[in-house]
Amino acid sequence: MNLDHVMAVAEETARAAGTLLLDGFGREKEIHTKSSAVDFVTQFDLAAEALILARLQAAFPDHGFIGEEGTDETGSQPYVWYIDPLDGTNNYAHGFPVFCVSLALYEGQRPLAAVVYDPTRDECFSAAAGRGAWLRGPSGMSALRVSAADTLVNSLLATGFPYDAHTSSLDNGAYVARFIKHAFGLRRAGSAALDMAYVAAGRLDGYWEFKVSAWDVAAGILLVQEAGGTVTLIDGRPLELARQLHLVASNGRIHANMLAIIDEIAAADQPTG
Ligand code: IPD
Ligand code: CA
Ligand code: CA
Repeated sequence: MNLDHVMAVAEETARAAGTLLLDGFGREKEIHTKSSAVDFVTQFDLAAEALILARLQAAFPDHGFIGEEGTDETGSQPYVWYIDPLDGTNNYAHGFPVFCVSLALYEGQRPLAAVVYDPTRDECFSAAAGRGAWLRGPSGMSALRVSAADTLVNSLLATGFPYDAHTSSLDNGAYVARFIKHAFGLRRAGSAALDMAYVAAGRLDGYWEFKVSAWDVAAGILLVQEAGGTVTLIDGRPLELARQLHLVASNGRIHANMLAIIDEIAAADQPTG
């Protein structure tokens, strides 16, 4: 596996898809719903996934591909790309400018390469296994490093709410209520991939979320790990990428504190899944 080539193709592809999304941002959107009344897809999600798949397949014809908008071509291949062509669709559809493209290559459970590209800020977060993580933006390139915060009261955290929050008891409400009593602050920006990229960049200190999909977080996991942070399942068990997962990502220093709060809620009979 030539990781330099993989990184170059992944970055070029994410940038091309991001440009397509930015181009569509101010235009009229055809919005359709998927799993619930608040789970949207637009023509630009579909166009970006088609562009990404065409480029990655041309470069890596033997690899497998799993994309949010229907791509499911894994076969028996150990190398699989996880593609979120537009992470932050609801923001995008509402004209709220927080969204990105997220691509990651895994060999089985092992993340090899990750790119998260935010076209609104022209920020490209990337990581390669064992080689570190970087941000390439308008002001140049810098290594990504998680923050040094070591208490929750000094920590800016992020989370998200699942698309079935209107109907499911696992809606994250009790967890948010508890964390706002302990953390410095809490953000819900609407893009799991960017939340994790920001943990890697030290802009956020921690993040947790229930019911995310593999394509939401596959890239973010490697970004956080290569920037020196920690990612586990919500109950502290080692991470295993699955179609749907509940997870915690942090700078490592506040990880046990975050898990302890989550555990308190779970022990108080709130569902964790
Ligand atoms: C969603 C975003 C959101 C998170 C949801 C995801 P989408 O992805 O990452 O922040 O809370 O769980 O499904 O649908 O915009 O690609
Ligand atoms: Ca997503
Ligand atoms: Ca998406």
